[in-house]
Amino acid sequence: MKNLTERQTREKEYYEQFAEKFNINRPIDFSPVDGPLLEKERRPWNSYWRTYEIPVDFLRKQKETQKEYHLLDFGCGPGDNSLRFARAGYKVAGFDICEKNINSCKILFEKNNNSEQGNFLVGVAEKIPFADESFEVVVGIDILHHVDIPKAISEVQRVLKKDGIAIFREPVEVPFFDIIRNTKLVRFLFPNKSSLEAHITEDERKLNKFDLNTIKEIFPNMTIERSLVLSRFDKILRKHDNPKSSGLEKWDYFCSKILPSYGLFGGASVIILKKN
Ligand SMILES: C[S@@+](CC[C@H](N)C(=O)[O-])C[C@H]1O[C@@H](n2cnc3c(N)ncnc32)[C@H](O)[C@@H]1O
Repeated sequence: MKNLTERQTREKEYYEQFAEKFNINRPIDFSPVDGPLLEKERRPWNSYWRTYEIPVDFLRKQKETQKEYHLLDFGCGPGDNSLRFARAGYKVAGFDICEKNINSCKILFEKNNNSEQGNFLVGVAEKIPFADESFEVVVGIDILHHVDIPKAISEVQRVLKKDGIAIFREPVEVPFFDIIRNTKLVRFLFPNKSSLEAHITEDERKLNKFDLNTIKEIFPNMTIERSLVLSRFDKILRKHDNPKSSGLEKWDYFCSKILPSYGLFGGASVIILKKN
């Protein structure tokens, strides 16, 4: 790829190294898609589950009217999410700045006999390598905080079809918690320096209110669901691969239903955009 910015170059270098970690035979957990798809389980309190559930529901509502529905996995990484969306029934396209990730997506789809359903290209969020109005759905998971938001969101607007939706799962700043988090003691106990082990790049930044306003200027109908208030402590209280639903996540969910301003303390967001 030519003409990368300094930030894009650093992100690319980081992820070309990070991609070495992935084992192509890794098991993929399909439960967040199978749950809503088979009406078995939903976890609206978990931002990742919610990010799968919305496209699954969108497809189920529309299925009778059209043969194929196209979903763009925006900054697709090594392809686990893309494969989940293919399982839900989408024709999936994905792009990522990291060539090794794109190769991994292609291998993953071949291995799962889904090659026909996936189309993966190396490219950047600030200039998406797909044509105007190509997708009914765009999904980005943990990606906007790595890119130039005004350019990337204008590109989302360009590649979405009319009435299409975009869903992003992103970390967001909470000044109250972030002040505590940035104290020397907490930084000492839980360092957040850029490293491959911690999966933190030099340039990534949680979204702040200015970023959210920028997105809203381009998509005035933006809605945002916040989670991870007290459940942020699950990081220390629970094993990260515990498959069960978290009690603290449910607590946060029900509190923010009763008192919407509670959600403003949430460090995770699901951002939902619609193109009119
Ligand atoms: C935290 S990972 C998330 C990947 C994937 N969405 C997932 O959930 O597994 C961030 C991804 O953004 C990609 N990336 C970083 N900057 C980018 C840019 N400017 N354009 C496209 N992809 C970028 C990286 O290569 C990496 O795959």
